[in-house]
Amino acid sequence: MQQSLITIAYIAASALFILSLGGLSKQETARRGNWYGIIGMLIALAATVAAMQPSGWPILGAVVLVGALIGATVASRVQMTSMPELVAILHSFVGLAAVLVGFGTYLDKFAAGKTVEDAGILLIEIFVGVCVGSITFTGSVIAFLKLRGSISGNPFLLPGRHFINLLMLIATVVLGVLYVMAPGTGGNAYLIAATVVTGVLGIHFIMAIGGADMPVVVSMLNSYSGWAASAAGFMLSNDLLIITGALVGSSGAILSYIMCRGMNRSFVSVMLGGFGTEGGSAAAGGSAPAGEVRSVDAATSAEMLRQAKKVIIVPGYGLAVAQAQHSLAEVVKILKEGGTEVKFAIHPVAGRLPGHMNVLLAEANIPYDIVFEMEEINDEFGGTDVSWVIGANDIVNPSALDDPASPIAGMPVLHVWEARDTIVMKRSMASGYAGVDNPLFYKDNTQMLFGDAKKVVDEILTAMRG
Ligand code: TAP
Repeated sequence: MQQSLITIAYIAASALFILSLGGLSKQETARRGNWYGIIGMLIALAATVAAMQPSGWPILGAVVLVGALIGATVASRVQMTSMPELVAILHSFVGLAAVLVGFGTYLDKFAAGKTVEDAGILLIEIFVGVCVGSITFTGSVIAFLKLRGSISGNPFLLPGRHFINLLMLIATVVLGVLYVMAPGTGGNAYLIAATVVTGVLGIHFIMAIGGADMPVVVSMLNSYSGWAASAAGFMLSNDLLIITGALVGSSGAILSYIMCRGMNRSFVSVMLGGFGTEGGSAAAGGSAPAGEVRSVDAATSAEMLRQAKKVIIVPGYGLAVAQAQHSLAEVVKILKEGGTEVKFAIHPVAGRLPGHMNVLLAEANIPYDIVFEMEEINDEFGGTDVSWVIGANDIVNPSALDDPASPIAGMPVLHVWEARDTIVMKRSMASGYAGVDNPLFYKDNTQMLFGDAKKVVDEILTAMRG
């Protein structure tokens, strides 16, 4: 009876997780999607606790309490701009958990004298789970350190790195065969060796990936963490963990694909590494742009915006740093009340995490029906009076389209320069995340509005109200 209730609870939780993913795929239904996920997780936790021996409840309660307190404190303090770092370090925990579950299962099930059913399959599950977990753990720690700026975002490229990776892969397979063939817990040394080799592989893989490709790395590690959790589910014979891990693994893989498409990069070339430079530093490759820079003040910009019949706003990372979204929502309201058509154009890799700009705009209650994805709106810039770029840089860089030598050549960008006038709001002439100069700033129809986005949007708001 109890077992059937647990099975029903697991099925209900799985269905809620699927509904959650469906809901999260659209801005309008994202909140509902979140609730489905929360309820699914509560059901899953309750069922898992019910399935345990009651003697384990005090220890479980204590660790869940400590974990929940740490998680709630960190999550409530984290800035939106630091979310990718938090996500990366959380992925590392999933990887580490899979490694520990693997060793725990091995030592428990194969202790001296025990007979194990389907021992070969279980050994393979443990080995795969530990190896995927180890790559996820070390790779995520390196991604965390890179995103945090604790280590350089530049690709670290050893000579013959592909050969080194291949050697490590072969060594892992050989260790796997030796491990499965060893009797009892005699394969422990092989399992430890494989953990070390795959751990080094994870470090080497992510070290070779440059800053500009980090969005793909974060979503790829998300996918790895899902597969690591799924492997842990096989080891623990927990169907829900297998399903949840597979959902995370496959949605992370789809997200990685979408990110690659957004940057016009092939997934394999990103994984092999060697692209991208340190964020916001000197220009990398391509020809340096030339021309005159025209600057404009907030009052004139407010007038330009008010006179415009149609305005497209392009938000970027700087909007998130400055937290200017609420003032911006006020400006949008005034413009709409004055009869101006206002739309937002969202690039798939704007900001520092997938959906970053959508979350910011939703926070400020900007209506969803004026927010458009790049492919929906890119043809509209030609018929627009003012394109207003707020704290964005790489995603509006025309050199991606017309300079084959540019490091971001081929990345689809928003065609803001096709509008009659473009206002670019940022603090200086510095480059963006990819470290590439931006010829947009020198175009005849571009006006630079220098300053912190929050301060300048507030000045525009004051000018408009005045
Ligand atoms: P960026 O190219 O990084 O440009 C942001 C610009 O904002 C900077 O040039 C900076 O110029 C300006 N800025 C910073 N603080 C500001 C402030 N307080 N007020 C006004 N402006 C400010 O950002 P983007 O255009 O959004 O492009 C995203 C980049 O990040 C892409 O290269 C993408 O590949 C990468 N990336 C994306 C993700 C995801 S998943 N979205 C994850 C990791 C990396 P100043 O210093 O002159 O102000």
